[in-house]
Amino acid sequence: MKLLVIFALCLGAALSSKIGQQQPPGLQKHLVCYYDSASFIKEGLGKVVIDELEPALQFCDYLVYGYAGIERDSHKAVSLNQQLDLDLGKGLYRTVTRLKRKYPKLRVLLSVGGDKDIETGDDAKDLPNKYLELLENPVGRTRFVNTVYSLVKTYGFDGLDVAWQFPKNKPKKVHSGLGSFWKGFKKVFTGDSIVDERSEEHKEQFTALLRDVKNAFRPDNLLLSTTVLPNVNSSLFYDVPAVINYLDFVNLAAFDFYTPERNPELADYSAPIYELSERNPEFNVDYQVRYWLRNSCPASKINVGVTTYGRPWKLTEDSGNTGVPPISKVVDEAPVGGNTQLHGLYSWPEVCALLPNQNNAYSKGANAPLTKVADPAKRFGSYAYRAADKKGENGIWVSYEDPDTAADKAGYVRTNNLGGVALFDLSYDDFRGLCTNDKYPILRAVKYRLVN
Ligand SMILES: *[C@@H]1O[C@H](CO)[C@@H](O)[C@H](O)[C@H]1NC(C)=O
Repeated sequence: MKLLVIFALCLGAALSSKIGQQQPPGLQKHLVCYYDSASFIKEGLGKVVIDELEPALQFCDYLVYGYAGIERDSHKAVSLNQQLDLDLGKGLYRTVTRLKRKYPKLRVLLSVGGDKDIETGDDAKDLPNKYLELLENPVGRTRFVNTVYSLVKTYGFDGLDVAWQFPKNKPKKVHSGLGSFWKGFKKVFTGDSIVDERSEEHKEQFTALLRDVKNAFRPDNLLLSTTVLPNVNSSLFYDVPAVINYLDFVNLAAFDFYTPERNPELADYSAPIYELSERNPEFNVDYQVRYWLRNSCPASKINVGVTTYGRPWKLTEDSGNTGVPPISKVVDEAPVGGNTQLHGLYSWPEVCALLPNQNNAYSKGANAPLTKVADPAKRFGSYAYRAADKKGENGIWVSYEDPDTAADKAGYVRTNNLGGVALFDLSYDDFRGLCTNDKYPILRAVKYRLVN
């Protein structure tokens, strides 16, 4: 009997992958493109205005505009930058939803949450609390639902993406040398590996919230999706079998498992597809996807998150010179990218400029090209590095996504008959075509692999 079932499943899988290759309209893979409006207000080469999104939009099925936030005490869903988003006539909310006139198949969603918010600096530290407080308060939930509905409706969005700011997994610290005993000691007693003592409760309340949003949206046929943010533990906060009924799809931000911010002392693959030996078995795309599948999420509703950026660490003279991850004795001090001006993140054009190319073939020191290590097995992704010099300077190790590895993830989506790819974010792809003259090379590679 069991064998028969397995046989039937294999047959089913074989048939459906065959169908997948021909891509009839019903099985078409989705491409969800994020655009974080923080890129609009940047200065210099990192600035991305709406016109510059246009070469991308022929490839995107959904444009997700981020991010709206919530007000702490009123629990209202609000624009984070009223002047930018809402200003009469030229506000970005209307500008992005008006893109549908030119790209009639494009659906534009507003995203709320997404590791961005009104509070900055110290106030931003306990952001997840604000999101949990809202869940705990039935009046707050209603207010959120009403205000978010009104934002979506007023500005002509096709729906909402909920990128709820749940508390994240605590990164494991690597302790070495003096003091490690005391830190370990403290950890045992403060129990700081517990992410949220009331996660069961919050999980239920979140289900209720999505249910209420869906009910408010139903008469207008508005879409509802959720984005599981990086390092948010689905098993703590998502009642998958329940929430999936209210969602058109889920975007799994299955990346940033290792980042210089979270893991300043250990560099490793940021977003491998499959499990690496001797690492946390959950820190890969496949685990995250299987978790949702195992909990009765239809494969067609899962979009795999793929980044258009890399995560850089600085190698020290003690990091060795093989480049093979995981690498200890690193520091969170890689030079800031010239375009993005962000600490701990290199956009694809910034990574591309560091890889061997015509401009840096004979450069030395801080401008010498990195050594690129590709992944022919298509399992873990690429990295590139430059060992530190004798003075301990100029060392870099970067785990990154490029057009090839992003296409590998699209291939994974195809093989497993998942819904599609969610690309984070258009602003970090090479939207100017600096690298190979092609604009949006990562987006194109993903699209090409999804449909061919
Ligand atoms: C996620 O939560 C489950 C408990 O629900 C726990 O067993 C697992 O270790 C957690 N994962 C991570 C990466 O912390």
